[in-house]
Amino acid sequence: MPGNVESTHKTWVAINPLNDQHEVPAMSKSEGVNELVQQVGDFYAWIRDYWTEMGRNQDGASSGMLNFGLWEDNTVTMFDAEENLRALVANCLGALPPGARGLDIGCGIGGAAIRLVQERDVALTCMDLVPAQLEIGRESARKAGVAGRIEFRLGSSMDMPFQDGVFDFSYCMESSFHYADKSAFFRENCRVLKPGAVAVVADITCEDNSLVTFRSGNYFLAAEDLRKLMIESGFSVEDVIHIGDRVFKPLQSYVAQYSAGQRDKLRRYWNLVLKNYSTLSAQGKMGYEIFVLRKGGRQR
Ligand SMILES: C[S@@+](CC[C@H](N)C(=O)[O-])C[C@H]1O[C@@H](n2cnc3c(N)ncnc32)[C@H](O)[C@@H]1O
Repeated sequence: MPGNVESTHKTWVAINPLNDQHEVPAMSKSEGVNELVQQVGDFYAWIRDYWTEMGRNQDGASSGMLNFGLWEDNTVTMFDAEENLRALVANCLGALPPGARGLDIGCGIGGAAIRLVQERDVALTCMDLVPAQLEIGRESARKAGVAGRIEFRLGSSMDMPFQDGVFDFSYCMESSFHYADKSAFFRENCRVLKPGAVAVVADITCEDNSLVTFRSGNYFLAAEDLRKLMIESGFSVEDVIHIGDRVFKPLQSYVAQYSAGQRDKLRRYWNLVLKNYSTLSAQGKMGYEIFVLRKGGRQR
């Protein structure tokens, strides 16, 4: 686990030169993009190892995911919780044509994509803003023997490096809370899909951001506001699944137990963040929603 943010940042910059032609996001000419890459990159350099360790199963296998998971009554481990969330998102994609090409937006370290290509006849493009996540994802896909069916691309969800109408489906799992410009994200998501394609967006929602204790790099919106932006961007909303009561509180208990007796900054940070989220969730002010969208289609 990294010692502190400063040294982590230096290491991160050293191993991820932003000027490498192939690894600069397509919109890197825009103001502030490198700062964004750095801010998000620093955060994940700080938490990634901790979250990955927490998500290992009894055999030491990593979930390859960096999300909060879905905690059913019988869920005991973070590994299983992350797999539950992934499976639900995959299920929301519905039936897909054989050989369909999909986009995993904010793919993280690639675990969800690897499992999806293992269970379905699809190919994926995985996009993330942080080069280090993509490197881990590429290596994991290679080890899993699925590198030929997953392409990893650097890019921002608010300005995607893809042509119009090229994907048969997309999903974005717990990444959009990072996006300051949600309209740009939904417009871009819709633009790169073929007409009639399905898109699944799973994320944290909050009706009053002033109640969130740690807000740096987090841009939560209320579910209803998100829905409006989705529709304005050309999607119809086919379903919304509310899972907040199966995310925040059980995760808080799990992390508190996992961190018991450890007082380092990172563990204290997560204990405080999750305590805040569970409280807001219990008050009905924070949620976790899975939106099932369709490009075009009739609004229900
Ligand atoms: C909580 S992690 C979730 C990763 C993955 N979807 C999963 O469930 O394991 C959020 C991811 O979003 C990525 N991200 C943040 N802002 C982004 C942006 N503007 N464009 C693309 N990816 C972004 C982060 O680098 C990180 O990998």
